[in-house]
Amino acid sequence: MATVIDAPAGLEGVVVAETAIGDVRGDEGFFHYRGHPAPALALTQPFEAVWHLLHCGHLPSPAELAAFTSETAALRGLPPDVLAALPLIARTGTLMSALRSALSLAGQDARPWLDLETEERAGTALRLAALLPTLAASVWRARCGLAPLAPDPALGLAADYYRMATGRTPSPQQAQAVERYLLLTIDHGFNASTFTARVVASTGADLTAAAVAGLAALSGPLHGGAPSRVVDMLREIGSIDAARSWVERALDAGQRIMGFGHRVYRTEDPRSAVLKGTARSLGGSTVALALEVERVALEILDAKYPERRLRTNVEFYAGVVLHEIGLPPELFSPTFAVSRMVGWMAHVLEQAGHNRIIRPASRYAGPIYAG
Ligand code: ACO
Repeated sequence: MATVIDAPAGLEGVVVAETAIGDVRGDEGFFHYRGHPAPALALTQPFEAVWHLLHCGHLPSPAELAAFTSETAALRGLPPDVLAALPLIARTGTLMSALRSALSLAGQDARPWLDLETEERAGTALRLAALLPTLAASVWRARCGLAPLAPDPALGLAADYYRMATGRTPSPQQAQAVERYLLLTIDHGFNASTFTARVVASTGADLTAAAVAGLAALSGPLHGGAPSRVVDMLREIGSIDAARSWVERALDAGQRIMGFGHRVYRTEDPRSAVLKGTARSLGGSTVALALEVERVALEILDAKYPERRLRTNVEFYAGVVLHEIGLPPELFSPTFAVSRMVGWMAHVLEQAGHNRIIRPASRYAGPIYAG
């Protein structure tokens, strides 16, 4: 019989796989994509270069980047039956649940990866990641009663996503802000949605199933659903003067302050550090309020949890940046999904490359009745 080991709640600190895609070092405040420091990539590379890094295993040469950019831009369009179904799908539930349904429909090659050749798997992974920006923007527009906008292959993925979602071509500053955010959120160790996608992939299921499962996990407020709540919180706080008493009251009432704390980081989340810089360069009253809320919240959280070192996580300034560039809060989690899809797909392909079904055990803790 196999040895049974009790894992800690939430699997904290348990290594469940080997990966060559990336890593997070929580005590150092560092994360990387295939060995390249991710914040540096976010400050210097276009989205497609880092997508190429994750998908193909290396940063592209200029010629490879040009070829990959036009190959993926050509995959951005939605199938006609998906476009036709959008008005109905968009009405269901939240934007994230509508996106989940739309992604299920759009993933038309629903053959288990177990039945696909390696090349076919890679092609499907690329197509799913390429169409998610169009899908997210189009579901959002359908929800607002607006017709979808066709992709513009002359634009990079980040700028085109912004354009398709808002109907406005982004200014260079807006395009850079959205691209930085996307670059910083492509991958991040064995977070809940990546783990979920790999669990589904480990069954041999189709790639869309793994992507939809990742999307479902990402929708929770303890994972990718937090940034819109950060904006709600800042709106509720209202003014710099009210920041301290609001945070104290919330903690006294046992609430969690959105955008703070992280399972792995015991330092400031490095993604937050980059996005704080982006927020500062954008300026505005929400940014000023956020800086003050961060200052007082860290003071208060440090006094309350001296051992835990709760710091600002990616969601805090992500919410602020996305708000400042004019994306509506409902689009924040779908925007996160646009980049994380690239990470999920890399993980799914890696899982498929050396698969063993992920099947842990549980310990029964309920009553036993006499039969
Ligand atoms: N505000 C107030 N207290 C907090 C916060 C917070 N944001 N985060 C953690 N704590 C407290 C907990 O209440 C707990 O205290 P206790 O021991 O008295 O019960 C202690 O710190 C440890 O917290 P855990 O729940 O054990 O931390 P865990 O690693 O399980 O959770 C999480 C991490 C989910 C991110 C948590 O910090 C949280 O809920 N933050 C707010 C939501 C948020 O910002 N989510 C986005 C995460 S980033 C991402 O997924 C991309």
